[in-house]
Amino acid sequence: MYVSHLSLLDFRSYEAADVELEPGPNAFVGRNGRGKTNLVEALGYVATLGSHRVANDAPLIRAGAQRAVVRTRVVRGERASTVELEITAGKANRARVNRGQLGRARDVLGILRTVLFAPEDLALVKGDPEGRRRFLDQLVVQLLPRAAGVLADYERVIRQRSALLKSLRGHRAAGRSPDLSALEVWDARAAQLGGQVLAWRIALVRAAQPLLAAAYEQVSDADGEARMTYRSSVLPDGLVPGNEELEKLLAAAIEEQRPQEIERGQSLVGPHRDDLALALGGLPAKGYASHGESWSMALALRLATFRLLGGGVDPIETDGVFWDPDHGSDADPVLVLDDVFAELDTRRRERLAELVVPARQVLVTAAVPQDVPGELMGARFEVTPGQVRRA
Ligand SMILES: Nc1ncnc2c1ncn2[C@@H]1O[C@H](COP(=O)(O)OP(=O)(O)O)[C@@H](O)[C@H]1O
Ligand SMILES: [Mg+2]
Repeated sequence: MYVSHLSLLDFRSYEAADVELEPGPNAFVGRNGRGKTNLVEALGYVATLGSHRVANDAPLIRAGAQRAVVRTRVVRGERASTVELEITAGKANRARVNRGQLGRARDVLGILRTVLFAPEDLALVKGDPEGRRRFLDQLVVQLLPRAAGVLADYERVIRQRSALLKSLRGHRAAGRSPDLSALEVWDARAAQLGGQVLAWRIALVRAAQPLLAAAYEQVSDADGEARMTYRSSVLPDGLVPGNEELEKLLAAAIEEQRPQEIERGQSLVGPHRDDLALALGGLPAKGYASHGESWSMALALRLATFRLLGGGVDPIETDGVFWDPDHGSDADPVLVLDDVFAELDTRRRERLAELVVPARQVLVTAAVPQDVPGELMGARFEVTPGQVRRA
């Protein structure tokens, strides 16, 4: 698929911008702080309903404006879809698909798929588990749009359950014996939704693992194998339980942790506490990998994602959960390389350019034209504050 048109209204630094894009490579060149990342962030938002830079929507709306609008035209095979997304801070976002009624933002999921690689991705390797959980969940949602509702419900249940745990802790501190019946209702919801989230993440990691190993080999000179493993305190080592078992395992773990949970006023088990372990040559990437290896790992994660979304998922490997019958047709996600070439040495630069050139559409941003490899120059745009012009 590819994006043929993008227009922004009051999104980040853009009051109004209109860009006609081409299939194949597109390069956006402009000095730092001019709005290159803002532009690609808007596309990422249409694909995932989230930003790779911020956890809430407020910064996406131009300072002083009430709401932002992102409009895109996505071409997949013979079909073109238009998506219009309205972002309002503190209120539910709304969307319109193909000039239909304004409806739920979630209705746009599945229309555009993007994979973005940016220097911030180094945090996937070196940073906290939260970033890796978000990475997994954004991928789950791109593969299976209906997962967005379950993920949101799970987050809400954990928030409310934690609030209840805090109040129970208060009761206990005041010498009253807490009434646990309300908690049991939340426990059951947390286990049910959490078990589903676990099942998706595990299926995803299992399907992505061979793609990650292959991608790492392609982008790095090192011989060590790259591995990703899902880490959850409720998973027995080496076992891959089915969906129902996951719910039961989680329910049992929640019950077992209850005294500590009340004591701390927090939900201590479940997918919101899990991690994605990344390893190189048998050692954890975090804390062991060199700077260059960490870069290669982050890049390999994104390339693996690109291939996974582009049809590399085998329905058997994922128990069929992510299988979309339309998957193979022009499914390549839009690949975005935001300011990455400047950070790479010549060899990695050449290798990366070679790997991504065949993609259906690649958007590259750079501060200076010399940082865009020749074969990725394609359609060229100049980014100046608030404006994007075809050069
Ligand atoms: N909500 C917002 N309202 C107005 N300006 C914003 C907003 N968010 C970011 N900016 C501005 O956008 C610029 C950064 O744009 P960015 O796309 O990150 O630059 P780069 O070209 O380096 O990728 C900064 O000048 C910042 O002040
Ligand atoms: Mg930038």
